[in-house]
Amino acid sequence: MMAPPPTDPRDPEPPLWEQLAEQHRQLPGGERLQKVLASTGWGSRRVCEELIAEGRVTVNGEIAVLGRRVDPTTDLIEVDHAPVGVKPGLVYYLLNKPTGVVTTAKDTHGRKTVVDLVPSEPRVFPVGRLDADTEGLLLLTNDGDLTHRITHPSHGVEKEYLVHVRGRLSAGELRRLREGIELEDGMTAPAEASQPTPGVIRLTIHEGRNRQVRRMCDALGHPVLRLVRTRVGPITDRSLRPGDWRELSTGERRALTEAVAAQARRYDQPS
Ligand code: URA
Repeated sequence: MMAPPPTDPRDPEPPLWEQLAEQHRQLPGGERLQKVLASTGWGSRRVCEELIAEGRVTVNGEIAVLGRRVDPTTDLIEVDHAPVGVKPGLVYYLLNKPTGVVTTAKDTHGRKTVVDLVPSEPRVFPVGRLDADTEGLLLLTNDGDLTHRITHPSHGVEKEYLVHVRGRLSAGELRRLREGIELEDGMTAPAEASQPTPGVIRLTIHEGRNRQVRRMCDALGHPVLRLVRTRVGPITDRSLRPGDWRELSTGERRALTEAVAAQARRYDQPS
């Protein structure tokens, strides 16, 4: 065994907490990465091992090797550049927002807010915004990082709306919705639009501009009569009643993380 390097008696001894931390770093502590990934819903242990072997998993920015041990409370674990939600204390709620409720954490006029409809602890924030007169699916979370990625102004995840408008759209008007509409803050990005019933449009956009859907329909001369958000990225729920909420399942959290990463890749941005 090699002798330890001679210590210089003039060197002050590191404080005890630093010595303990160093000892801790040298221990094979933590949990195996594939086990942590599997527990967050990325698939079976075997699937997670393959993800690692394919070099798609990083820990604190470095490509991870099989058998790597991690501390999920402090290590940043990412799959395809998207953080894996393993940090304890993070909650993700899906709310079916009724009309008349405002999407702020606190309303200055004392109106009911979306935050009043979900548990008060831990404190959560709405992911993006629905107008007071818009209904439908809204995520709330204390995961600021995911919120930022979902609501990115130009490449956030897709949001799908059912829009009841005055009158019915012609084929040309539907095409304009798809190709982009000139609004006062610029052209809208290409969207998906169809009219399953005359006067009811299914519209999918990934931008998050203020009152965007209403303004797009106004620009075509078909004001919105009713606006319901039916999907946020991969998250949808036809049985959640207005005013009700539930937690996202592990699979939904994973799908959301994947959707955010895919969207960022599409725009060639680090997610
Ligand atoms: N677009 C709108 O115009 N309003 C909403 O609430 C959401 C999208």
